[in-house]
Amino acid sequence: MAKFTYMILLVVMALLGACQSLGEVDKSPVADASPPLVILVHGGAGSVGPKGMSKKDQAAYRAALGLALDTGYAVLAKGGRSLDAVQAAIVTMENNPLFNAGKGAVFTAEGKNELDSSIMDGRNRNAGAVAGVTIVKNPILAARAVMDKSPHVMMARDGAEAFAKEQGLDIVPPSYFFTQKRWDQLERARARAKAKAALPASSHFGTVGAVALDADGHIAAGTSTGGMTYKRFGRIGDSPIIGAGTYASDLSCAVSATGWGEFFIRGTAARDICARVQWNHDDIQEAADLVLADLEDMGGTGGVLALTPKGTYAFFVYNTNDVPGRKNRRPE
Ligand code: GLY
Repeated sequence: MAKFTYMILLVVMALLGACQSLGEVDKSPVADASPPLVILVHGGAGSVGPKGMSKKDQAAYRAALGLALDTGYAVLAKGGRSLDAVQAAIVTMENNPLFNAGKGAVFTAEGKNELDSSIMDGRNRNAGAVAGVTIVKNPILAARAVMDKSPHVMMARDGAEAFAKEQGLDIVPPSYFFTQKRWDQLERARARAKAKAALPASSHFGTVGAVALDADGHIAAGTSTGGMTYKRFGRIGDSPIIGAGTYASDLSCAVSATGWGEFFIRGTAARDICARVQWNHDDIQEAADLVLADLEDMGGTGGVLALTPKGTYAFFVYNTNDVPGRKNRRPE
């Protein structure tokens, strides 16, 4: 029962945060402009661990998600681009050891941190991504640099790191990403692997992301992660894959996913949601629910944020736990 309660909290925090931010829209001087300003963030949709979360930790997560929302919203409120709002929100979470992204990234089976990230501009479908970086402090900034400063969409490992250095991004020693909490998670995963026990579902969770809509009506999405605890070195998840963990197009929607990346890749989840909106004219909630239901049928777990250029959105979309009142999200 305790674990059940704890698992709800991460999602509710995102919900409250999003509502707070949307509430600010009504008070903003640009609120009358059409479309509305919107930013949604997620910090993972999974269990927060077998021992649950203390009140202190709950407050810390709530504050961190609030900071991400406020930081991203400040960009929008000044007339900034959705792309910059998404980036700014994600940087705050990458700098916070609470999240499985940047500073708080999980460890590979070899005891290293390999980080993935991507960003996409709905205005023109430009995109950038980095995979498997080990010394870049903020992978979302490297993804943005790939998009803006190179002819490519994705760079990996040492090539991505060399590019990040050339671009003058903050480079840190691999030890920067050490946190005791993540190391302890790795030790538990190693013990389970030795005992040939399945890894807990929570080893796949904690990715961060954001989607936003700016005053010019453009949407954007970004996602950043350390991946999954005890992943093989070289394993790349959905977060840096455009169309899987991240997607944005003004023709349809912006999506950032969190969860078991292999399923989001196989299900081309982010693009599938937006394709439903674009070609089938699905309501955004219905599109997100259907794609999550499809992933669930495949055995996948996770969640998504999704936002349209009209400002409609879906963010209570995840299947990582049984929330009271949560129906089967598959529409009738
Ligand atoms: N969703 C993050 C990952 O699987 O790497």
